[in-house]
Amino acid sequence: MQLDRDDERILAGEQGETKQKMLELLVALGKVFGAERLVPIRSAQVSGASYKTIGEYGLRWLNTLDAKAVVPAVLNPIGMPRDRWEEMGVSKDFAAKQQAVIAAYARLGIALECTCTPYYLRETSYGDHLAWSESSAVSYANSVIGARTNREGGPGALAAALIGKTPCYGFHLAGNRKPQVVIAVNADTSGWSIADYGALGYHAGKLVGNRIPYLTGIRPERDQLKALGAAMAATGAVALYHVEGVTPEAQKNRYDVAGLEAIPVEGAEIRRLFKEVAVEAVALGCPHCSPEELRTIARLLDGRVVRKPLYVFAAQGVIDASQDTVNDIEKCGARVFADTCMVVSPVMEQYTGIMVNSGKALAYVPDMCGAVARIGTTEECLDVATE
Ligand code: F3S
Repeated sequence: MQLDRDDERILAGEQGETKQKMLELLVALGKVFGAERLVPIRSAQVSGASYKTIGEYGLRWLNTLDAKAVVPAVLNPIGMPRDRWEEMGVSKDFAAKQQAVIAAYARLGIALECTCTPYYLRETSYGDHLAWSESSAVSYANSVIGARTNREGGPGALAAALIGKTPCYGFHLAGNRKPQVVIAVNADTSGWSIADYGALGYHAGKLVGNRIPYLTGIRPERDQLKALGAAMAATGAVALYHVEGVTPEAQKNRYDVAGLEAIPVEGAEIRRLFKEVAVEAVALGCPHCSPEELRTIARLLDGRVVRKPLYVFAAQGVIDASQDTVNDIEKCGARVFADTCMVVSPVMEQYTGIMVNSGKALAYVPDMCGAVARIGTTEECLDVATE
């Protein structure tokens, strides 16, 4: 692999052992995947931030590292809101461990924005090279923005943040970004919500596995694309998808997909996922809510009283910029939490049934929270929370 003089110095240990080991990791990854060079990145997003997922071993490893990020870098959601963990019902023991994890990341120069929607906080543009690790963020960056990132593991993303580069293979190369299979949706999607697109993603992810799908017959908007991609990344391993006439690379490249396998999807297959199941709590914001989603929740809740626990998750920066809206939501009895989510917080494990408006949460809640998951539109979720 081609390395420049700075890289050679880092590998010789001139900038300390942590950077040396981190660059060794990137070079090893690059060799495994056939990268010819490293590419500078604009930002990193580092997973492995919840104590629930990394545990004591991960915390000990983080505390052995000594270097600072050289590009803007944020964290994936952690197991609790940094400020309001007691209010969420997180135990003191868990909070102490979680605080130790974020202190370790802060020491490494990672910004304590803990979110799967870093694109709401810092401008990310078409063609930017990134090292992001949370699957829905990776999907959004590649597909909706047209930026370029592989789905990094936590250590790979952290290494890229500390070095400022990542191995140039996979989705960093234009030739690897072409569609491989067509999902032909045959449904009247004119009134579809983000939950419908999440359910489509849940279904389509199982059909395409790790191939790059090209979806036809749909006209999703931004938040709907976010829901679609997050779910396809959860039930499949889809890190990049294209939507005919909608996503930037599909518009720019006008792919010829005539020779690809085409899988039809009927509207009834999607509706079947909307089953009635008894639930004890409702959770919205998987991926974390956009400002528009928060406004929708506030409008739909206006004048109503929340009677079941209703959790809403968003990035702290989005909450700060939407404070009046958040106050309106909380006035009705819901809670809007930053930094964490329904899947990585241990608090959600107390419920046996959780209602969501997200295809990704529908896929993850059963295994990660040990609860039955029900999907509904945002309206249906709020009806259940206030009934
Ligand atoms: Fe984000 Fe948590 Fe969902 S990380 S995509 S809110 S499972």
